Amino acid sequence: MKITIRLIVSLVFIVALVAVGFSSYQVRAEKKRLTAELERRAIILAESLQESVIPLIASNSLQKLNRLVERFGNRERLKGVAVYDRHGNILAVTPDLASKIPQPLPPAVKSVAENQPVGSLMSIDDKETYFYALPFSEGDKITGTLVLFHDASYIGVRLKEIWKHNLLRFLTLSILIVAITLLVIRWSITGPIAQIAAWMREMRSGKGKIDQLVSPRGDVLAPLISEVAHLAKSLAMARARAEEEARLRFKAESVWTANRLKEHMRAELKGKKLFLVSNREPYMHAKEGRNIRCIVPAGGLVTALDPVMRVCDGMWIAHGSGDADREVVDAEDKLRVPPDEPAYTLKRVWLTKEEEDGYYYGFSNEGLWPLCHITHTRPVFRLEDWVYYQKVNEKFAEALLKEISDEESPLVLIQDYHLALLPLLVKEKRPDAKVALFWHIPWPNPESFGICPWQQEILMGMLGADIIGFHIQYHCNNFLDTVDRFLESKINWEQFSVERGGSTTLIKPFPISVDFGNLVLDKVAAISEKELLRENLLKEIDLRVEYLGVGVDRLDYTKGIPERFRAIERFLEKYPEFIGKFTFVELGAPSRTHIKRYHDLIAEVEEIAEKINWRFQTKEWKPIVFLKAHHSHETIYRYYKASDICMVTSLHDGMNLVAKEFVASREDEDGALILSRFTGASRELSDAVIVNPYDIEGMADAVYSALNMETTERSERMKRMRAVVKEHNIYRWAGDLITELARLRVSSAEN
Ligand code: G6P
Repeated sequence: MKITIRLIVSLVFIVALVAVGFSSYQVRAEKKRLTAELERRAIILAESLQESVIPLIASNSLQKLNRLVERFGNRERLKGVAVYDRHGNILAVTPDLASKIPQPLPPAVKSVAENQPVGSLMSIDDKETYFYALPFSEGDKITGTLVLFHDASYIGVRLKEIWKHNLLRFLTLSILIVAITLLVIRWSITGPIAQIAAWMREMRSGKGKIDQLVSPRGDVLAPLISEVAHLAKSLAMARARAEEEARLRFKAESVWTANRLKEHMRAELKGKKLFLVSNREPYMHAKEGRNIRCIVPAGGLVTALDPVMRVCDGMWIAHGSGDADREVVDAEDKLRVPPDEPAYTLKRVWLTKEEEDGYYYGFSNEGLWPLCHITHTRPVFRLEDWVYYQKVNEKFAEALLKEISDEESPLVLIQDYHLALLPLLVKEKRPDAKVALFWHIPWPNPESFGICPWQQEILMGMLGADIIGFHIQYHCNNFLDTVDRFLESKINWEQFSVERGGSTTLIKPFPISVDFGNLVLDKVAAISEKELLRENLLKEIDLRVEYLGVGVDRLDYTKGIPERFRAIERFLEKYPEFIGKFTFVELGAPSRTHIKRYHDLIAEVEEIAEKINWRFQTKEWKPIVFLKAHHSHETIYRYYKASDICMVTSLHDGMNLVAKEFVASREDEDGALILSRFTGASRELSDAVIVNPYDIEGMADAVYSALNMETTERSERMKRMRAVVKEHNIYRWAGDLITELARLRVSSAEN
């Protein structure tokens, strides 16, 4: 029971006890007083009446006696009078009473026998009645007794009234006592304690200040406050020392970690929040029967940025595309994520079906995506898609501007080709904002980009940003060439910046990466050692092979999946000793399937796999297992761990984080990576077996040499690749980009 309730119950109990005790004493005293008063009246009346009765008895005038008795009936509280002879027989009685009083009346007999007046209470006709018997005599001889009957029921009524009033007084008193107690407790105990607790919480999270602790009212908590303040001071000093040490240590260290980024952000952002905007949300809620399932969408953007946001605790604004997304947000369309360990806020932007069709499927993925990826899929540009693209960018701008309205010089990280117009839309309204745009996909040469009918609008929209980041310098150069070709502007080739209309945009490479350490630790925690065994994994898909290869992709035509399968076919043709011994498992997540090209790709991939399997498969073996589904990170990790080779054969790719994930997951320092030279990752992972995905013959040989590589060489290569990914991890990416942005002098912000 809570202390307040205990206190209140005790107080009410004590007040009730006192009230009951006091009331019964009062009732008893009142009863005594009223009875005595009645007796006094009865004596006076009886004595005066006796003087008239005695001569009538003496003269035996019973008729007169009866008249006298009748006259005294029903007066005020006098119910009646009766006269008895010395034997207890009635001589005269008030008519109303005659039938109600018992015969003989024992107290009347007693008063004659003892020659004493007798008075007491009795019930007549169910009513409390006081009777008084006064014996009378003739000379020395007792001749009878005169009995007076008084109505005493008013005494009971009066006593009941006393109880009632006292009960009301008790209730009022109790309510007042409880209210005052609660006020006093709240005012001087629970209120100050809650204040202290809130302050301690702030102190613990590093946001509070010692002097923000308000002195408590009254002096009950004063000693506690003084001790807590001392404790907080010591804590703050220890924290400052630790932060200083960490800063010094991190300066000397080359590897970025989540903690280092956290510390760095604290120092760099000085309490400012980070606002990240992307089309794709990091957590999507989908209906599954009656339940709601939380899904982490496939794709490099989410893989890379979720760990960063977990550290920075900012706000991620994205399209709410899950069919149960609306059911889990608050009134402002926000929720804290990740669901099991909330670390930052996700704000969802809602799009209509038409907006999604035009902006996402249409302009972004049928226009800009193939425009930037040189894979011989023609971009499609429709005016109505462009109109929706502009509209949705404005919608995102509106949502973002609302969130940053109270922030001074906010830091905004805009992601990818879906939101090319957003930087300018934000800067027009908030010139003090520091805006970075990170382009996750390649940037083509000016000739290729030149086919876009809205090239200038897109470039101008992007140049609203203070920094535009690409994965590699080559994409930066392509972008600068494109701007040079299509926009009136000044390109500074020494600083890699564009000056236009009084503002400058830096164009820099920031090669994105993965969360090296946690990627492994997280997954290890989720998978038992047994499950890690290749045998068990293979058993689950009914396979028994000596060599295992894996591919992990969104089912996208840029990923070179048909080329990969053809290379495997050629490999088996060329090196038949691997028939029955090598299987390639493709974990393919369906993506953008409303677009015909993507829909057709799935059919094409299925058909090729089917054809190759038909050609080579035996009763117990097949060369290709195509697992088309949205696979969890745990499943993907188990395949990474169990495979001899991982194939990343994109025809064109900004970075490709699957390559880096595979390397990060191989803490056993084994496994070979076959990597397309058209990925951004190939610039950093030069120890992979680099291939041209269009060269089927070359890829077949690459599979052969990867599988036959000497263990020591394979391990050396893997070690070197791991060192690269470990050092150039996602925290370094975020640290570099955010530092560059935070340190920028944005003209109107600094004035
Ligand atoms: C690429 C893009 C991302 C996108 C991801 C998944 O990595 O650069 O912006 O989120 O693919 O594609 P989706 O269309 O499902 O978001």
